[in-house]
Amino acid sequence: MKKDKLLELFNSLTLEEKIGQLVQLNPDFLNESDTVHTGPISSIGIKEEMIPYTGSILNSVNAKQIKTIQKEYIEKSRHKIPLLFMADIINGYKTIFPIPLALGCSYDFKLVKETAQISAKEAAVSGIHVTFSPMVDMVHDARWGRVMESYSEDVYLNNQYAEAMVTGYQGTNDPHNNIASCVKHFAGYGGAQSGRDYNTVELSKRTLLEEYLPAYHSAIKAGCKMVMTSFNTIDRIPVTANKWLLRNILRNEWNFKGVTISDHSAIKELINHGIAREEKETAQKALEAGCDIDMMTACYANNLSRLVKEKKLDISYINDAAFRVLELKNDLGLFENPYRGADEDDEKKYILAPEFRNKAREAVEKSCVLLENNGILPLNSNKKIALIGPYGNSKELCGMWSFTVDKDNVITVKEGIEKYSNNVQYCTGSQILDDYQVVKELNSLFGQEFKNQELVDESLELKCAKEYAKDADVVIMALGEHSYQSGEAASRTDLSIPKPQMNLFKEIVKLKKPIVSLIFSGRPLILNEIKKYSDAVLQCWFPGIEGGNGIANILYGKVNPSARLSISFPYHVGQCPISYNFLNTGRPNTKENIGNRFVSKYIDAPNLPLYGFGYGLSYSQFEYSKVSLSSKEMSMDTVIEASVIVENKSEYEGVETVQMYINDVVSSVSRPVKELKGIKKITLKPYEKKKVDFIITNEMLKFYRCDMKYDSEAGKFIVYIGHDSLTNNEECFELIK
Ligand code: GLC
Repeated sequence: MKKDKLLELFNSLTLEEKIGQLVQLNPDFLNESDTVHTGPISSIGIKEEMIPYTGSILNSVNAKQIKTIQKEYIEKSRHKIPLLFMADIINGYKTIFPIPLALGCSYDFKLVKETAQISAKEAAVSGIHVTFSPMVDMVHDARWGRVMESYSEDVYLNNQYAEAMVTGYQGTNDPHNNIASCVKHFAGYGGAQSGRDYNTVELSKRTLLEEYLPAYHSAIKAGCKMVMTSFNTIDRIPVTANKWLLRNILRNEWNFKGVTISDHSAIKELINHGIAREEKETAQKALEAGCDIDMMTACYANNLSRLVKEKKLDISYINDAAFRVLELKNDLGLFENPYRGADEDDEKKYILAPEFRNKAREAVEKSCVLLENNGILPLNSNKKIALIGPYGNSKELCGMWSFTVDKDNVITVKEGIEKYSNNVQYCTGSQILDDYQVVKELNSLFGQEFKNQELVDESLELKCAKEYAKDADVVIMALGEHSYQSGEAASRTDLSIPKPQMNLFKEIVKLKKPIVSLIFSGRPLILNEIKKYSDAVLQCWFPGIEGGNGIANILYGKVNPSARLSISFPYHVGQCPISYNFLNTGRPNTKENIGNRFVSKYIDAPNLPLYGFGYGLSYSQFEYSKVSLSSKEMSMDTVIEASVIVENKSEYEGVETVQMYINDVVSSVSRPVKELKGIKKITLKPYEKKKVDFIITNEMLKFYRCDMKYDSEAGKFIVYIGHDSLTNNEECFELIK
């Protein structure tokens, strides 16, 4: 619709109709039954007369239902403005990919973009207009359950993934192939104190600007059409009512023209935060701060009109927000076609297409990280296998944000391995958990009956596991945290693999058989014991519907693992939060300081993680030459070429992710010991060597200086190029100004 027509339509709306565009409800309110609840379920007390004005619907997910809702809504509506349908399409719609944290370990931005393109296709034909994705929150704390939705602990990677996901979702102009993306959770939600979900965030302004904000900005620069505000406070002001973030940064500095939406119930939660006495006040504070749509509360619906009439709220706030919503609907072509891509025939034709499953399998193969291997992998098909553990034949491989999946489509580890070997004996061996309370609570919250199929006779299972193990050449243990122990509202103070499974593991270890351990989780777990007693360890995350096939392809060598950790694996939960880009402190725990009590260290654990950022093994052996620089000096408008020769010293062709880090040795503020500034993925044939170049620019050296200006400073820099963040393959140069 042309802008003048849109303005004409807008000006014809009543105040209540404009306010309705700022309200988002789930389909229950429109008497549609099968919806998924992703937040507190209670009657929100919305005025009945406001419900028909609702502007958007949350988490309605299939073409038939969406077309029915849209048709009935438009028939009853005076203004005929179509509804916007938004949903959590996080790691896929029906073709479920590995969770985002797993994809983050691929270091393959093209692959990640392709997963978003496929998700967009399946969601578009199912009638969805907007996905609440990508989540690009910076996370350094594995205790936080939502780490599974993030991509990495690193700024450079998060920027790349944010852009890849947004362009993947929105890339084409074809409404049958694209959906709008809503980047979240703006801002800083992943910095929750103690890793406890929804908790206070205390970040310095410099850390917020330098580490936590860039990825949202990357999403917006990539054209992201919406931004979701986060539950947390920044500088003790809840983000949903934080003018500095929502107007100064988002609108004025970043020039974001799109629509902002609160997270689920976040506007009403301003009362709990203690910055509002009642809903009327929350509505005023949130809208004036810059939060356009109210997700799943009655604050806007019940109060905005009254606030205008009482002259407590300038109507321009409502007009600006409501017009932005209409512009988004217009941008998505909803006025020309309110059903957009929704098409039951297309659903049948495209959803779970073989090429989509193939991409999902490729994603598994490129995101499982080989953490240990004494040579036992790749396996030979004639080996007799005992597959033991609750994840050995489980279909619970898709992670918390995959409520649209049909689990029958999930390939289990057992099914994958049986494509290589007809000599596999499987048993569960133990329950996942000893206490299922967390599962029962979540089941009842979402009206599901507790699946007691997970409860097993553990003595019987252990007996069977030991028999199979004794009889096998190789034992494959498939262990991990419960999928309900990961995701939103799933923070943990203990990052161990649950006790029943560790008891099982220790009993099998006693049999002294070769052990390959497969770990399933939405976060880094504490793997010291697993590392100690396994001959190989593969971190599988929650790998999605092609999990079994992708994992088997790695185990049997059809695929040479290439993933690298995008997040540190702590040695102990007490180290959290932990990341590779720490500051040196005044008393660094260095080799020179060994034996000195008064340094920054623990007396009962190392400082370093068990597995560091960038780490991951391959079946190949890669060796690096020393770093060489095209010059030892650069100025603001010149560059330095940094290069290494990488050699594959094995008979396996493999992919190496060459990583370049930079350390700013002396500057006006303390700077991280390393910062990833570039990666290059190279494929090397057996015994092949290649030169890998990086270009160092002045832009890479910028930071928020002591005067808070974003710029570089003259001085010494160290550049590292290596296999992971622990590399000491270094060379130094001077920036001259
Ligand atoms: C949830 C999540 C958010 C999600 C939203 C809608 O509370 O915090 O990530 O997109 O509600 O389901």
